[in-house]
Amino acid sequence: MIELKCVWKRYKKGTFFSKDFVEVLKCVSLNVRKGEHVGIIGESGAGKSTLSRIITLLELPDRGEVFLDNEKITKKNVKTKRGEVGMVFQDPSTSLDPKMTILSTLKEASKDREEIEAVFGKVGLKKVLLEKYPHELSGGEQQRVAIARVLLAKSRYVVFDEFTSALDVSTQARIVNLLCDINKNRDYGFIFVSHDVKLVNFLSDRIYVLYKGEIVEETDDLKDAIHPYTRMLLSGEVVETEDKRSEGCGFYAACPYRFERCKREKPDIKMIGKNKGVRCFLYD
Ligand SMILES: Nc1ncnc2c1ncn2[C@@H]1O[C@H](COP(=O)(O)OP(=O)(O)O)[C@@H](O)[C@H]1O
Ligand SMILES: [Mg+2]
Repeated sequence: MIELKCVWKRYKKGTFFSKDFVEVLKCVSLNVRKGEHVGIIGESGAGKSTLSRIITLLELPDRGEVFLDNEKITKKNVKTKRGEVGMVFQDPSTSLDPKMTILSTLKEASKDREEIEAVFGKVGLKKVLLEKYPHELSGGEQQRVAIARVLLAKSRYVVFDEFTSALDVSTQARIVNLLCDINKNRDYGFIFVSHDVKLVNFLSDRIYVLYKGEIVEETDDLKDAIHPYTRMLLSGEVVETEDKRSEGCGFYAACPYRFERCKREKPDIKMIGKNKGVRCFLYD
């Protein structure tokens, strides 16, 4: 199981010498069990990719804890644990080395030629493509190579960050079917990170909704979503609102249901059912 406990991450705004920080993740807690399909949705800028880098152990949080199978991830052990959580990126053309053949790229994950060919077949690619360079492949084929690479690396968990955004609709559908097929025995924990709510809802057993660096809702089906932000996101109505206050609910300025308490107090995420949590005083 992967577990994040109140993870914080901030980045410097502007230049290196700047003392101005932006909190990108604010006490994010989540877990992904073995073989589970978990979705993370939110608008662009919500902090999804930052969260992806922490889940895949590419970065450590500033505060809070990350556990992999109950073992705490530290500066010391992070490098040895990294391979256990793989990542498939949005743009496959930038995640593959243009100067290396597909075979050489995959050999970095496994030396076993037979195994490479077996996995290559599993992701629906013909052997002749092994000798080619990334630019000779279509976007869909490149993304299949990226998937083959994480499977060969024997990652037990894979984060897919906007993995279909660069692909056309029919290629998207084929890749989605491929992923369902690969994990039909639930050998892997899959984490789908995207602004595409329909796609994530289709693929996931459970979904976290991220709004400006905070989890505002957890649900096993978006059609049962109750947080005002999630409802607005689903209906496509979300409007960006400038809000510099640090107190109160993070969604206060844009919320159609806000009341006095929301201005002063910050709601905690409250579990109101199995796999059902919401950060909103309407449900307090
Ligand atoms: N390495 C970084 N340095 C500075 N700011 C960053 C860095 N990575 C992300 N950010 C900022 O963090 C915020 C969230 O970014 P990101 O995690 O990419 O969101 P998302 O993937 O949801 O669009 C953005 O405002 C972005 O500019
Ligand atoms: Mg992103």
